[in-house]
Amino acid sequence: MKDTKQPLLEEYQLGDLTLKNRVVMASLTRGRATNAGLVPTPLMARYYAQRASAGLILSEGTWVSPKAIGFINVPGIYTEEQVAGWKLVTQAVHDKGGLIFSQLGHIGAASHPDFFDGELPAGPSAINPQTHSFTPVGFKETLTPRELSLAEIKQTIQDYKQAAKNAREAGFDGIEIHAQAGMLIPQFLSLATNQRTDAYGGSIENRARIVFEILDAIIEVWDSTRVAIKFTPVALSHVGIVVPDEETIPMFQYILKKLNDYQLAFLHIVGPAEDLTGTPVAVLQDNYFSHFRRHYSGRLMANMGFTQESGNAILKEGLADLVSFGAPFIANPDLVERFQHHLPLAESDRDTYYSGGEKGYTDYPASVK
Ligand SMILES: Cc1cc2nc3c(=O)[nH]c(=O)nc-3n(C[C@H](O)[C@H](O)[C@H](O)COP(=O)(O)O)c2cc1C
Repeated sequence: MKDTKQPLLEEYQLGDLTLKNRVVMASLTRGRATNAGLVPTPLMARYYAQRASAGLILSEGTWVSPKAIGFINVPGIYTEEQVAGWKLVTQAVHDKGGLIFSQLGHIGAASHPDFFDGELPAGPSAINPQTHSFTPVGFKETLTPRELSLAEIKQTIQDYKQAAKNAREAGFDGIEIHAQAGMLIPQFLSLATNQRTDAYGGSIENRARIVFEILDAIIEVWDSTRVAIKFTPVALSHVGIVVPDEETIPMFQYILKKLNDYQLAFLHIVGPAEDLTGTPVAVLQDNYFSHFRRHYSGRLMANMGFTQESGNAILKEGLADLVSFGAPFIANPDLVERFQHHLPLAESDRDTYYSGGEKGYTDYPASVK
């Protein structure tokens, strides 16, 4: 459908995939894999199918291995049962004419021994990320983790590759690598949490190495045009000490330059949620997405606090190719139809974000019948 007033509603060609519109549902952890095996459930299939009018759905962050875990009731994609559960989800979305990528994640040092029978989680270095982990008995402060051995880093990369293979078997249309703030990848990029002295620490090139090794492993099993990556270079809160540092800007210049050589589906960039004044990334404050446009020649997906108006505006300006919406999809399963008909948006209930069950999950009504 061509709506010249609303570029958000235009059809979009993402490589060989045709998106019905340019409204993407961003990944939303919802804590509904409420079973010991962390298997996606029929309720989750219903929830995703309700949101299938999005041009593309990005699944909730999904564990690539048991070692990647660090938040309750988040599904994995490393067992046969989990793959079978995800098949229900992808089938339900496809039946409604939607498309869905699997977001693959690893929380690294920001986990807690409660997830590992009392053993410490592991990260780039034995440095406490000073954040919180949502354990089965509530939020707990993180501890000083173990430093990953070189063999464990290689295994982690293989875990991403196997998870990507599993996602293919489960019927996903592509992969998004979860390199959002707080996760294992940004822990490697950060000067504060990565003080390794081997090939994965020290220089910008070394700290970013894992990004490209994960990407290279995944594109052995997926065409690169179906693989994306999501970064949050400017997260200031809820990420402990993994905040922008004086090398964040050169680090991202390096990463973007290298990513130009990959024919990725898209680069997904999260914008600032807070004022950047006085931080090492203050220069990004104005015209935030234009900085990424300048350094990255592929498709760019913009995220953070977009509305119908600002989403249409950034597409019109040509500063992004796709716009993703996170929180608005929680209470508005028919967000796209609401944009089409200029209907008001419903407010979501934060108390049910991770609460398990149908309440605040599949019971938000569509406003257009
Ligand atoms: C409840 C909730 C869960 C989230 N879970 C994830 C996640 O699993 N993976 C991820 O990359 N981002 C996650 N995010 C961040 C969103 O994808 C998005 O980047 C953020 O909400 C900003 O977009 P918005 O302003 O449109 O909500 C989550 C956000 C919320 C509100």
